Amino acid sequence: MKGVILAGGLGSRLWPCTKITNKHLLPVYDRPMIHYPLRCLVNAGIDEVLLVTGGTFAGDFLQLLGNGKEFGLKDLHYTYQEGEGGIADALRLAEDFADGGKLAVVLGDNIVERSIRGAVAAYQRQGKGARILLKRVPDPERFGVPVFAGGRIVRIEEKPSKPQSDYAVTGIYFYDHQVFEMIRGLKPSQRGELEISDVNNMYLERGQLEWSELEGWWTDAGTFPSLLRASNLVAESGANLPE
Ligand code: G1P
Repeated sequence: MKGVILAGGLGSRLWPCTKITNKHLLPVYDRPMIHYPLRCLVNAGIDEVLLVTGGTFAGDFLQLLGNGKEFGLKDLHYTYQEGEGGIADALRLAEDFADGGKLAVVLGDNIVERSIRGAVAAYQRQGKGARILLKRVPDPERFGVPVFAGGRIVRIEEKPSKPQSDYAVTGIYFYDHQVFEMIRGLKPSQRGELEISDVNNMYLERGQLEWSELEGWWTDAGTFPSLLRASNLVAESGANLPE
């Protein structure tokens, strides 16, 4: 399975820090944020990785990561997202790279304590469809939130004001080739972006969305409180630890 890291966007919630760099290059404890999702994929056995970024500072990723030698990679693939079309718009750029195969997709500001190797194996066994990773959180209204009925997810709501569960849809997703056809059918949301939650809802409609609960702590790092939380969690217990 190949891996994709989505590291575009304006990082407007981290303004003014993101006036002079890309959000994913800001430090989380002792290293740049982008190191964590990359390490997450590599530790799960995924060694063909595409980084999607954009904006003014895209060149800095090359300077920082090169061909990923530091991470044990033979090479690292890059592509450039024009504009700020959202997560699903960025993923669209991975179609040629995917070459009809399955993908593990990680948002560049998501950090996990434990290896995702188990989820990768579960998705490999799954056959067709998609798989998302859920985590119980105290503030689900900040995320995509699953609505359950009879133990099954019936829909995913993006940043609901009244969350129907205390789970967040984390920014770690597994997709098959159907994802690209689905993205082509998406319409921009109220915030003007192609939403990844809409993609997940399309898989649900096809009865092809499975989920696992993420082990260990998980956090995003795209706001000042979550960036601080991420640094503290990494400092206390490390990230991407083996299973
Ligand atoms: C995005 C997704 C959301 C998901 C979150 C995980 O939110 O839209 O569904 O729960 O990532 O980090 P964003 O960071 O774009 O607000």
